[in-house]
Amino acid sequence: MIIHETFNINDKGHLTIGGMDTVELAEKFGTPAYILDENVIRNNCRTYLKAATEHFSEDALPLYASKALCFAGIYKIAAEEGMGVDCVSGGELYTARLAGFPAEKIYFHGNNKTDRDIKDAMDMGVGTFVVDNLDELEALSGEASARGVVQRILLRITPGIDPHTHRAVVTGNVDSKFGSAIVTGQAMEIVKKAISAKGIRLAGLHCHIGSQIFDVEPFAEAADIMIRFIADTKKECSYEIEELNLGGGLGVRYTEDDPTIDYSSAIKNMADIIKTYALSNGIKMPRIILEPGRSLVAASGLTLYTVGSVKEITGFKNYISVDGGMPDNPRYALYQSRYTALIANRASEPADYKATIAGRCCESGDLLGEDMLIQKAKRGDTLAVLVTGAYNYSMASNYNRLPRPPVIMVKDGEARVAVKRETYEDITANDVI
Ligand SMILES: Cc1ncc(COP(=O)(O)O)c(C=O)c1O
Repeated sequence: MIIHETFNINDKGHLTIGGMDTVELAEKFGTPAYILDENVIRNNCRTYLKAATEHFSEDALPLYASKALCFAGIYKIAAEEGMGVDCVSGGELYTARLAGFPAEKIYFHGNNKTDRDIKDAMDMGVGTFVVDNLDELEALSGEASARGVVQRILLRITPGIDPHTHRAVVTGNVDSKFGSAIVTGQAMEIVKKAISAKGIRLAGLHCHIGSQIFDVEPFAEAADIMIRFIADTKKECSYEIEELNLGGGLGVRYTEDDPTIDYSSAIKNMADIIKTYALSNGIKMPRIILEPGRSLVAASGLTLYTVGSVKEITGFKNYISVDGGMPDNPRYALYQSRYTALIANRASEPADYKATIAGRCCESGDLLGEDMLIQKAKRGDTLAVLVTGAYNYSMASNYNRLPRPPVIMVKDGEARVAVKRETYEDITANDVI
């Protein structure tokens, strides 16, 4: 096992995923290619669902935060596993519906929903809007009243805590662009407006404190603040908040240096703590919603590339250049995210060669990692970057007009195309000459 159970080395010395030889997968599907082990995703969904319903309550629901990895097939898996989903755009909603995902189990997020988004989501019958701000509340209330319907909503609240993770993925701080802050009084203001707004039923509150968090402590801190706020709402408005969505954010192991995390125990710990908070604040335990993204899909995947060149700059650095890069994985360029990489066709050889892995874009920052320890490489080798299931395909671009790689799903010894490789025709399809 390398980092996660799905990644192993077979007797040919080749890296495997879900028991399948990655060198053979690279030959069959070409590179770059995202490969996902479907069983890992399904097992993670089951872990969340089991832990949430066992430790919170029967009606607790994990939503798959589909921004982490979005294509039609993933919504089908989420539906089959009994999950809800979190969508943040018209495009994600459209994809969910294309896959037949039940609209009533969709939570519609986003800090700037357009009028068109609101109308489209209501046309689809989206179950719950997570309303970010007063402007949105007013627009949604107007649309719902005009249609003569009552829309179920949660309000996004910023609890004002720092979960000690990368600055770019912290979202629960007071000056965040998301939600309404409790300390400024704006959270209570929007709650009051939502309670009295026409066409709106305020079901609950939402907070998401950030991503790649390994301790339960910041979640407990957020829950403490949110539960006290629910108690204040009860006192000030005589209104019972029935649902509390605690967002996503549990971390994933990308390298040997990262901690391991047992999601089931983390959820149990959260449940134990939150139940005591509810009790001590004199409120009924709200229905708990969780919103994991990364922790459901990241460890299911890897990306395969072909090595094009190995450049040794004497006295400085070694570069291994591959046939992908920041367009298929912008996370190093964005967050300096660290990964584990291997030469898949010589995975059992010692990883003692220090190299920077570069992409093929005209951009010095187009790197997948710097000074990584990897097997010695040569042109034509297959290079694998592990744990790329989350925020890789969904963040991919066509920079330098590079077509996006395919998504290949492996399951029980079979591999199938879940998203086709883009062609030059695909990427020029909207160009008007
Ligand atoms: C509102 C919300 N919920 C859930 C998530 C998923 O977070 P993660 O992938 O870290 O679990 C995000 C990520 O940005 C988010 O913004």
